Amino acid sequence: MISMLACDDNAVSHPRVSGASSDGSPRDAAPGTAPPADANLPSAGSAAAEHTATIDSARGFVFSSVRCGQCHAATEKQWASGAHSVASSTPLYLAMRAHGSEGCERCHEPMQAITNDARIAKEGVTCLVCHRIDKVEVQKTSSMFSPQFDDNVMFGPLCDARNQYFHKMGCSPLHAKSQFCGACHHLLLTTPSGVDLPVFTEYQEWLASPYAARGVDCQECHMPGRPRHVAVGSRMRPNVHDHGLNDNAQQVAGAITVSVTISSSPEQLLVTSVVDNLKVGHHAPSGLPGHELVLRLRILNEADLHEEDRAERLYSRVLVDDHGNEVPFYAARRVKSDTRLKAQEKRRETFAWTTKAGGRLVAELFSRPISPALATALGLPEPREQILVKAEISFKRTSSNGQRPGLPVTMLAEPVN
Ligand code: HEC
Ligand code: HEC
Ligand code: HEC
Ligand code: HEC
Ligand code: HEC
Repeated sequence: MISMLACDDNAVSHPRVSGASSDGSPRDAAPGTAPPADANLPSAGSAAAEHTATIDSARGFVFSSVRCGQCHAATEKQWASGAHSVASSTPLYLAMRAHGSEGCERCHEPMQAITNDARIAKEGVTCLVCHRIDKVEVQKTSSMFSPQFDDNVMFGPLCDARNQYFHKMGCSPLHAKSQFCGACHHLLLTTPSGVDLPVFTEYQEWLASPYAARGVDCQECHMPGRPRHVAVGSRMRPNVHDHGLNDNAQQVAGAITVSVTISSSPEQLLVTSVVDNLKVGHHAPSGLPGHELVLRLRILNEADLHEEDRAERLYSRVLVDDHGNEVPFYAARRVKSDTRLKAQEKRRETFAWTTKAGGRLVAELFSRPISPALATALGLPEPREQILVKAEISFKRTSSNGQRPGLPVTMLAEPVN
């Protein structure tokens, strides 16, 4: 739960600090220097104050992420392209809200409790949400975190940055730790019968994985660093962090590998597939219950390549209601099944088809943002299948000696972009 800024009835109306007034160049100023008062700024409530920073109360310094982007342009662009900026506006989230779910704001639109400016709240997990936090306490079923709004400090990993006129710097080693992400990426819901139902378990899964033991935090995979300027006009730094999360296709490609081996007996085609959660720092898939990974094998006819048969293996966590129906997590009462791949787990799957014919095997691993059953329940269209890796292997018909020429053969599925 976030400790929110108390709405002060006596709060004086402060001027909005117009973004347009900034020359974008960071200037050094004495610690504690407040944003400059400027006679040319639009006054509170002015329609001209689109995308401006607001100071909502006597103590609170509340700004839109757009304001941060005036000096931290590259970071803002990455954030805007990532999931955190749309946390309160994806179709799936809105569909769940429309179906009467509650208590979602503290992680999806935490600024709602802090400002009356709906535009800022709609920015989801904003720059300020993360950079006002200096403490996260991970507890049994969720975490406590408290953004600080009574001083204009930005907590972050830099401990040698000098305060400048717009904001002060707050050295926070916590920002490089998984515990920081655990503020929101950790949730179990207690059902009426007292069961703690796992919902968002990335943090817990990571904690139990070999990555935690080796000190590889969430940030190392999700926010890789490279040399650049942190702000317009500031000096080069060796390791400035990407804020686009894992929307970077390169990170996802190769994280989960699939190898396929075809062999045969006189009557059968035998396929063994090993799905390896090689580089995901937690279960795969993780996050929202209903996320799915699917291994699909299809046998195509030798002559015209039409599909003759298929087999699938599903990796997901299915939450159900008292009647055993798959439902969104907030309506669920128990875990029906959890077939996800643990970090660094290799899952061996075997398949057999009774056939002597030749043909082609197509093996694909794909993800779905939500199970088809949940999509239907929420009135959403059939979920998109995103193919991650794919292998195609041709095999010949069984010859008179009962053997298939060329088998066994093993292939590693290739990433698909
Ligand atoms: C989900 C939380 C989160 C959000 C949202 C977020 N940041 Fe960060 N930011 C971090 C973390 C964590 C680090 C430090 C990563 C590390 O040290 O491993 C960081 C680092 C930084 C730094 C220090 C330089 C660097 O990259 O290491 C700056 C500046 C920064 N963020 C600005 C922003 C701005 C501007 C926005 C909005 C456009 C933003 N952040 C949104 C979590 C966040
Ligand atoms: C204030 C709460 C909050 C904090 C702190 C936070 N997250 Fe998130 N994160 C969310 C929410 C809510 C979403 C879902 C956004 C969406 O997709 O609509 C999300 C989404 C994500 C996603 C995208 C998931 C997907 O399905 O693509 C990743 C990756 C992620 N967060 C990583 C991190 C990491 C790493 C940190 C720590 C540096 C972090 N988050 C800190 C709330 C938070
Ligand atoms: C007027 C320019 C300017 C604006 C606007 C601005 N910053 Fe900064 N910020 C800087 C400079 C300069 C640094 C220090 C860069 C350095 O030392 O490499 C910095 C550093 C930071 C850091 C690192 C702090 C630390 O100790 O690790 C964070 C986090 C940060 N800014 C977040 C934000 C957020 C969030 C906003 C929007 C509310 C914002 N900034 C708006 C100029 C600005
Ligand atoms: C060793 C690297 C690594 C570490 C450490 C790591 N992740 Fe991930 N994470 C990944 C990869 C790779 C994916 C993409 C998997 C995919 O989409 O196939 C991912 C996916 C996600 C997702 C999207 C949900 C899903 O599985 O579809 C979220 C949310 C997430 N990570 C959060 C976190 C958080 C929070 C932490 C720290 C507690 C963390 N991750 C630690 C590599 C890592
Ligand atoms: C404790 C923090 C927390 C709370 C409370 C919370 N969420 Fe989330 N939510 C997250 C995190 C973290 C993710 C990122 C994992 C992912 O994307 O798979 C997420 C992801 C999602 C997603 C998938 C991403 C997207 O937007 O499509 C949906 C949908 C969602 N949450 C709905 C809800 C609803 C509805 C509620 C209220 C009943 C809620 N959440 C409450 C933390 C939270």
